[in-house]
Amino acid sequence: MMPYYSRNGIVIYHADCRDVLPTLTAVSVNLILTDPPYNVSAPDIDLPGRKAMVRDFGKWDENYDPKRDLELWDRVLRQGSSVVAFTSCRLFGKWWEGLGTRLVPQGFDAWIKDNPPPHPRPVYVNAIEQIVWLCKAGAAHYWGGNGYTRNDIYAPSPSGRERTEHPTQKPLSVVRKLMLVHSGEGDLVLDPYMGSGTTLVAAKSLGRRAVGIEIEERYCEIAVARLRQEAWVTDEECYDPDADAKQGTLLDDAPARAPILMR
Ligand SMILES: C[S@@+](CC[C@H](N)C(=O)[O-])C[C@H]1O[C@@H](n2cnc3c(N)ncnc32)[C@H](O)[C@@H]1O
Repeated sequence: MMPYYSRNGIVIYHADCRDVLPTLTAVSVNLILTDPPYNVSAPDIDLPGRKAMVRDFGKWDENYDPKRDLELWDRVLRQGSSVVAFTSCRLFGKWWEGLGTRLVPQGFDAWIKDNPPPHPRPVYVNAIEQIVWLCKAGAAHYWGGNGYTRNDIYAPSPSGRERTEHPTQKPLSVVRKLMLVHSGEGDLVLDPYMGSGTTLVAAKSLGRRAVGIEIEERYCEIAVARLRQEAWVTDEECYDPDADAKQGTLLDDAPARAPILMR
């Protein structure tokens, strides 16, 4: 299949990921870092005098079942690799049902939003997005964190120069932290549900190779535009990998950021 974009180790396919995945080299990917549909779309809510609350993300956010993907992902993953996927608590059961024995659940991370939008109905304001972490079975997994790498990641929703038109864009700082913890320099990162290309922008900035797959061409265009920009994200705007270490008291003798293999 011809890529939509290919430059300096970053490749985009404009296609259904389930058509592309079987064509990728088996046992080649160090990390799947992705953000598949959540199945949470509902009609938008009109707000008097303000912008409507967007809840209808489009057709792609219907009937997603991770069970259908896990085998395709397992085929391309290398020994020691991880899957890190944003998801909704509504899908937890389906992730676990689909696992079989080849991808092993390790736990969850949470992106805690500094600025969640208010909700006009009597429900909780959603300030937390869940992130599931699975490992390829049968081998020690790569760990680029340190002895105090926490699973609560605080960041605002993308805004200003970072914000694109994609309705469910994730913050670059969160994706960069996850990438640093679960992959090393030069590793190959795959995002089969690429959206506006946040994973690929993070890969470019951190010296990883990456493949992104996106079914909607307008989002491929946004991703290419982001990749073509010179690095406008300054280090201050991004996750500081040593910040966890500064908080931790356990760390005095732990090697900060040294990749280690854990069972
Ligand atoms: C939750 S969004 C990802 C947003 C992304 N993390 C970002 O920061 O922009 C999921 C994306 O998957 C795409 N998608 C849905 N089904 C797909 C499929 N079968 N193959 C490839 N892309 C798909 C949607 O068009 C949507 O852009």
